[in-house]
Amino acid sequence: MRFLNGPVISRANGPLRGAASAPGDKSISHRALIFGALASGTSKIAGLLESDDVLRTGAALRSLGAEIERDNPVWRVTGAPWHKPDQALYFGNSGTGARLMIGAVAGAGVGAEFHGDASLRSRPMGRVLEPLRMMGLEPFDRNGGLPVTVEKSEKLIAIDCKLASPSAQVKSAILLAALGANGVTRIHEPILCRDHTERMLGAFGVSLDFEDDGTGGRFITMAGGQSLVSSDVMVPGDPSSAAFLVAAASIVPDTDIVVNNVLINPLRIGFYETLAEMGANIRFENQRVQGGEPVADIHVRHAPLHGISVPGERAPSMIDEYPILSVVASFAQGETMMSGLDELRIKESDRIAAVEAGLSACGVDVKSGDDWLRVRGKGCATGGGRINTHHDHRIAMSFLVLGLASEKPVEIDDGSMIATSFPDFADVLQTFGANIAAA
Ligand code: S3P
Repeated sequence: MRFLNGPVISRANGPLRGAASAPGDKSISHRALIFGALASGTSKIAGLLESDDVLRTGAALRSLGAEIERDNPVWRVTGAPWHKPDQALYFGNSGTGARLMIGAVAGAGVGAEFHGDASLRSRPMGRVLEPLRMMGLEPFDRNGGLPVTVEKSEKLIAIDCKLASPSAQVKSAILLAALGANGVTRIHEPILCRDHTERMLGAFGVSLDFEDDGTGGRFITMAGGQSLVSSDVMVPGDPSSAAFLVAAASIVPDTDIVVNNVLINPLRIGFYETLAEMGANIRFENQRVQGGEPVADIHVRHAPLHGISVPGERAPSMIDEYPILSVVASFAQGETMMSGLDELRIKESDRIAAVEAGLSACGVDVKSGDDWLRVRGKGCATGGGRINTHHDHRIAMSFLVLGLASEKPVEIDDGSMIATSFPDFADVLQTFGANIAAA
């Protein structure tokens, strides 16, 4: 939507009503394109998220040799042996695209240069480069970040490693690189995080083994040298994007909406569990399995909310949802304490700092520490702030949602980054009756 390219303002406009589908899941969309491009044959992808981040991964895969075309309503991806691209690969704002593709390029045994925008250049890449170094590669980076150069390597060595933090991007990069390694790679995942790579590798014909570690984590083993065979993918709706709609519905009085076709993979629904504990009226209806993933239609009605302490162990299953949860907590009665948030400091922006500054500007009682946020809600928020989004899509959407329920309108400095994950964000909310417009 054109008006999002610049300052945007949202204001209360009565109850939200209606039904809409959530946009395709971003994590699954990146992976569907990458696995399709690595596989023999043609894979059809239905429901692909057509956002800037995902389309950049598609463009990178094309320049590596894959054929990718939109044949409405599906995308067709035909794999091919990858070759060194003529130009550097550019991933814009996308940490997922860059990190997964660094692993995939290493595993495919080709070289490439990886670039990104200012936000992506400030994000750590050492977490995916270190395992590659253990595998025998010598990637070149600038101070641990982009631009990164991966050189062609004939054969990587399989590794046995333990994930230092519950990062699905790191886990996925290792698995993608390990496809090109000699021997069996074993990853110890002490804290489970999203498992779309493992599920989708299985669907593309790769065999993996899983073993519980006895303390809630697991070991993943995979032999290198396995070939991928094309597979059709049905991308479910993104629970991290649906979270903005569900949050709006929970805080705008008299609201009653349905968000259709949302992924409810247990490793992705911490936000919904948290909202339910806060008293939200959320029902997962028509639960079904679609393309190997559990999905549901989410029916949500406004309800009075109360603050809670969110267990730190829940963070991996709602890591992208803390900004919008903080907004919801501002409309709850009492204190919401969120801990275990160290990863939030290194997302598209320092999200702890951006949330604290934005909520303070909207008259909310908020405090933060290195890895925690505390919001003291009064059942309503004043609003009226002008929000610095730091070019972060989730900060932008969170504060536009706040403006839908606060006493005064909320203005964000720029809505353009929303296109990285949820291009139809404003349109969907407008069909529900929300007032979001150019400032
Ligand atoms: C993602 C993993 C998460 C998440 C990101 C998408 C993925 O990042 O924040 O939006 O698709 O693997 P981390 O792996 O850094 O936790």
